[in-house]
Amino acid sequence: MSTAEFVVVANRLPVDRIFSADGEEQWRTSPGGLVAALEPVMQSVDGAWVGWAGQPDLEIEPFVFDGIRLMPIALSEQDVEEYYEGFANDTIWPLYHDVIAPPQYHREWWDAYVRVNRRFAEAAADTVERGGTVWVHDYQLQLVPQMLRELRGDVTIGYFHHIPFPAHGLYAQLPWRDQVLRGVLGADVIGFQRAQDATYFLTAVRRRLGFAVKGSSVAVVDDDGSERHVTARAFPISIDTAPYLELAARPDVRQRAAEIRASLGNPKKILLGVDRLDYTKGIRHRIKAFGELLDQGHLSVQDVCFVQVASPSRERVDAYMHLRDEIEVAVARINGTHDTMDHTAIRYLHQGYPREEMVALYLAADVMLVTALRDGMNLVAKEYVATRADNRGVLVLSEFTGAADELRQAVRVNPHDIEGVKEAIMTAVQMPEAEQSRRMRSLRKRVLENDVTAWSSSFLGALERARSEHVRPEAE
Ligand code: G6P
Repeated sequence: MSTAEFVVVANRLPVDRIFSADGEEQWRTSPGGLVAALEPVMQSVDGAWVGWAGQPDLEIEPFVFDGIRLMPIALSEQDVEEYYEGFANDTIWPLYHDVIAPPQYHREWWDAYVRVNRRFAEAAADTVERGGTVWVHDYQLQLVPQMLRELRGDVTIGYFHHIPFPAHGLYAQLPWRDQVLRGVLGADVIGFQRAQDATYFLTAVRRRLGFAVKGSSVAVVDDDGSERHVTARAFPISIDTAPYLELAARPDVRQRAAEIRASLGNPKKILLGVDRLDYTKGIRHRIKAFGELLDQGHLSVQDVCFVQVASPSRERVDAYMHLRDEIEVAVARINGTHDTMDHTAIRYLHQGYPREEMVALYLAADVMLVTALRDGMNLVAKEYVATRADNRGVLVLSEFTGAADELRQAVRVNPHDIEGVKEAIMTAVQMPEAEQSRRMRSLRKRVLENDVTAWSSSFLGALERARSEHVRPEAE
């Protein structure tokens, strides 16, 4: 395939491999947020996407899907264990989420991370045209910017970090802390979700590498002694609001929301949690708070039902297996104690759903509970807000999410404070309609104005400025 002027590099391709009823292989756009975010950009330029198809040992030739050139990266079973499940999701993920689960440090996982990052960097180098732009995404690929720069000095490189960046006291645990900083600093522009993440990153850069930092600009000294200026700052991500608005207005989706309420016994209030089943999401904390409200008689199953959608995630990583056991025991105990023949306390669904069903659930829910212990952004909070064109519903939002910086009119909680979560739930359940409406209007204004197009334009604008400020000799 010919080269492309704009290349996205992410751990996952924007498509999923599925099989039709007659066993034929097909590709379908993935439900993820990044896909929706970049789809319009990819359609408007000559774009390619480098990523993994999501299954081990799958060798696929590059192909075009929906006008985007896809460059699949093959990962062996061992790569999946050591790079994806190991270093990315059992070292970096827990470390960067404030060690909620203990990070595992294994040298062979690091070696796999280096090896696989190099494979992605080489594929990007082979794909991008002379003087083109490459946008690298997320914690799985922190070494790619530097590796790519070494291969292709003519290319402008962006890196966006979708998850939190930890405080220096925690980051310093990482045995490969300097190599990772150097890897990320290969980019011209580095984006974070919150100003705090950028500050923590810049502190690590100053303290570990001794580079001068002025505002959001780092004077990086490369191995050959030359100096480059790299920008590192916050670009909070958002959602594509249009499909949520359209679905929320569709009669069949509204009908489905009514059906959901009816099937739960038409409770006065429905509480909703929607998360990947991940220990960062604070699912246990919200279940505990809800259980205590039932035990103490502040809520009853006749009046209130809590629906928790927990979509399966990273199921072969130990910490995720334990979490699932803990949550399922907690749900079963509460339901066993409080359910009646007609009503259930917690309707727990360990399943993923299409967007139509999620929007129907958002419309059915009076209270949305987002109690993450740490979360880069949390797009579920923004999806709920975008959906509620009726200006009804209450968002309870953890202060440890990126979304909390923007969604100031949510009911804020510290999820570690179980009494505080209980109070927030009661406030939300009892909130008068006029106050719901006042808060929801303000939340919606924020989300609708700062949608994903605003995010990608602002990041790509910064990247474009970086390109024009230091045009590289090789590109001329
Ligand atoms: C988070 C990460 C993404 C990741 C997603 C799903 O949102 O920031 O990079 O793709 O979780 O996780 P998975 O391991 O299934 O890709």
